[in-house]
Amino acid sequence: MNQIRIAPSILAWDLGDLERAVEISVQGRADQVHLDVIDGHFAPNITFGPGTVKALRRRCDLKFDTHLMIDQPDLYVDKFLDAGSDLLTFHAEVLDGKSFDGLHRKVASKGKEVGLALKPRTELPHWASDRLDKISTLVVMTVNPGFSGQSMDMSVMPKLAQVNELLKDKGLSTDNEVDGGVEPENVREVVARGGNVLVAGAGVYAKKDPVGAISTLRRMAEEARRGSR
Ligand code: DX5
Ligand code: ZN
Repeated sequence: MNQIRIAPSILAWDLGDLERAVEISVQGRADQVHLDVIDGHFAPNITFGPGTVKALRRRCDLKFDTHLMIDQPDLYVDKFLDAGSDLLTFHAEVLDGKSFDGLHRKVASKGKEVGLALKPRTELPHWASDRLDKISTLVVMTVNPGFSGQSMDMSVMPKLAQVNELLKDKGLSTDNEVDGGVEPENVREVVARGGNVLVAGAGVYAKKDPVGAISTLRRMAEEARRGSR
């Protein structure tokens, strides 16, 4: 069973002080930093690009989990690789088997990992189920992409359980990341369905003690896992 990993999403912090956001992740012993890149086309917000990722890379050694909510990832994949992303997550909605293979080739040639994300209403496409061995992280979104601070859409839980069954059946050790509205109150539900990488924006950065919030989420997730065994 894959270990629990906590991935604070810096989108929920003051965007004028992202240096402090990554520092909080380091101090709270997060496993990876989740970087939400949005282009104003794929989702209704514009966040930051490779320049920001590169600047943060100089300030932090944690794994960089870059979530590309953009329409044309092929135009930017090299820039995010050069900027120092370790895991590049692409959205299934803008890809097909052929374009995925092209992106995978580029990322793998740099020794980095590929993630695949699904919006709340998107099912895992056939081309993707045939390529699960190339995906290190399957990201199940539990809010519509765009903004931090939305509440988790619990109607996505059956899909989360389903993709986990599928990965288990195939004998794969793919990480299962849950992104959107993760809070101490729903960690149990998510972990019980096989989620092991917990993205938390508001669940970390909107708390009074964001450093402590990272350990709280980890403790709750680990307890939930022991309880669900
Ligand atoms: C939504 C992003 C999420 C989000 C997480 O577009 O992909 O990563 O910022 O923030 P919370 O945990 O506040 O929903
Ligand atoms: Zn995200």
